[in-house]
Amino acid sequence: MPEFGCLVGEGARVPILAAGPAGIARAIEVLRAGGTVAFPTETVYGLGGLAFDRLAVARIFEIKQRPRFDPLIVHVLDRAMLEEVALELSPIAERLAERFWPGGLTLVLGKREAVPDLVTAGAPTVAVRIPSHPVARALLAGLQAPIAAPSANPFGALSPTRAEHVAKALGASVDLILDAGRSDHGLESTIVAFDPGPVLLRPGAIPVEAIEAVVGPLTRPREGAVLAPGRLPQHYAPRTRLQVIDPSQVPKHERTHAAALTLCDEFPGYAAAERLSPTGDLRQAAARFFEALHALDAIGLERIDAQPLPETGLGLAMMDRLRRAAASA
Ligand code: TXA
Ligand code: MG
Repeated sequence: MPEFGCLVGEGARVPILAAGPAGIARAIEVLRAGGTVAFPTETVYGLGGLAFDRLAVARIFEIKQRPRFDPLIVHVLDRAMLEEVALELSPIAERLAERFWPGGLTLVLGKREAVPDLVTAGAPTVAVRIPSHPVARALLAGLQAPIAAPSANPFGALSPTRAEHVAKALGASVDLILDAGRSDHGLESTIVAFDPGPVLLRPGAIPVEAIEAVVGPLTRPREGAVLAPGRLPQHYAPRTRLQVIDPSQVPKHERTHAAALTLCDEFPGYAAAERLSPTGDLRQAAARFFEALHALDAIGLERIDAQPLPETGLGLAMMDRLRRAAASA
């Protein structure tokens, strides 16, 4: 792991620091001064800025080339810090918070007036989560202030699960990247809103079944409701064209210029392949999911053939990402 700024990609100087005490102290300085820091969370890497600093938040939108209508997730240390950004939790929200925080669940709650409109894209709600990753928590504890952080990738592209993914995709436009190796979950947080019953806005790191075990069935958003742009039909896309197809259906001669992304099966004749989990374990597969896509994308083949995954547990979130990636092809 580099200890100091290193050369990555097209010669841009990207400061990557190991997420030890010195790196964390530097990141706190950068954030406090209004800068942006890419940092590890248990789900994916985030691109953070102080949530109450409008300029820092504007910079996040600029770096990601993210449309201003797409609101950011605010990360808080604990329930006390939550009160600075969100109104009181409903009893259902309370049950979810108790069960899944700290962790990979984002709740869309009523927002406090103090939260800049830019963060919430003018919505009366704010998406919040209490992360469990020790580095994210150390930043929040050091700053004693909420951090707005979308995933640290260009808008619509694959999410980063390693510091190198951030360096490659965003380069020197970020003030600092903290490196703590691979994100545990490897999928973005699950997002739940309230209408007033719980509504699933994005499947993610916490399986829907686990949430439903606590609060009963989740509904899907009504047509025409304000959508999480992670729900845009085209999103999470590699540059290489991707199709969701069982590789066994692909004739041998069409495999030679393509890559296969599979759960555990192997198919002969592909130019490259990534198996997400030799034992077919969906948790392990999720942790490697974006990393495998980044790796296959980097080869620059004609096509990625992604095998359909079982749509239970984390398979649901991965299939959601694959379909959106395929829609961008
Ligand atoms: O795991 C994660 O959630 C990562 C890490 C860094 O925390 N963050 C992340 O952020 O995935 P982002 O910006 O890539 O996705 C946030 C999603 C977007 O689709 C956005 O539209 C939705 O959350 N969102 C944010 N605020 C919202 C709100 N007030 N109402 C509805 N959706 C909202
Ligand atoms: Mg994202």
